[in-house]
Amino acid sequence: MDKGLIELVMNANSLGVLTGAGISAASGIPTFRGKDGLWKKHRPEELANYQAFQKDPRLVWEWYLWRRELIKNVNPNAAHYALVTIEKVVENYNLITQNVDNLHTLAGNQKVTELHGNIMRSKCSVCSKPFLGKINLNAGVPKCEQCNGLIRPDVVWFGEILPQNAIQKAYEIAMRSEIFMVVGTSGVVEPAASLPFIAANNNAYVVEINPQKTPITDITDLYISDPADKALQEIEKKIIERLN
Ligand code: OAD
Repeated sequence: MDKGLIELVMNANSLGVLTGAGISAASGIPTFRGKDGLWKKHRPEELANYQAFQKDPRLVWEWYLWRRELIKNVNPNAAHYALVTIEKVVENYNLITQNVDNLHTLAGNQKVTELHGNIMRSKCSVCSKPFLGKINLNAGVPKCEQCNGLIRPDVVWFGEILPQNAIQKAYEIAMRSEIFMVVGTSGVVEPAASLPFIAANNNAYVVEINPQKTPITDITDLYISDPADKALQEIEKKIIERLN
């Protein structure tokens, strides 16, 4: 592990992290574009969009409930926990995730900006009012008590714009972080893919952790080609050694 990185992290006033599906791979959740990707088995381009929901809301919900079950049965891994340790040692720490799996929050990260929503939440497809009830498809797709709109998963679908407050926060984090870590994302889905470039343009020290190179790799100050759990666990270990 790069010793210079540990010193930088220990002395940083601000650190931003952008995560993608790769950070949850060690928890057993397939990435989107990997060979065992969820996308391949279930053709989500067909299901994760508003038109599909309008056409067959039950089918879309069946797929999301299947994914919820998959996620309910997994735990955060060493990479998620290592980020919690980093959060404790850097004053202005902020995490941006494209993942909808809730694992950063489950691991104990406090400052999480969810760019693509959260699969465990539901909301009205018309007025966006949060829906806190249980989804029981035997009784049909539930409707909003306020406007009678159909309830949908609170995630960003293909073709939809990101929650304004989340993307605004993400841009701010990218612009003001001294260190910007990019973990387990293919860096091909906008606007998240631009965040490391914004950070680099604002003189952040950009670190990428990904076994495979991405369009981001060329602009990094440090590229670590290990899986996220291994790389972040090593960083965490070195930080704890420094603290003792
Ligand atoms: P991808 O599946 O596109 O990319 C996962 C990345 O993780 C790849 O670059 C892998 O090389 C890397 N990876 C795999 N295993 C890893 C490991 N153990 N440690 C570190 N990295 C590893 O997933 P995302 O980039 O997250 O959007 O995809 C971005 C968005 O595309 C998703 O949020 C989703 C999808 O469309 C929406 O649902 C709106």
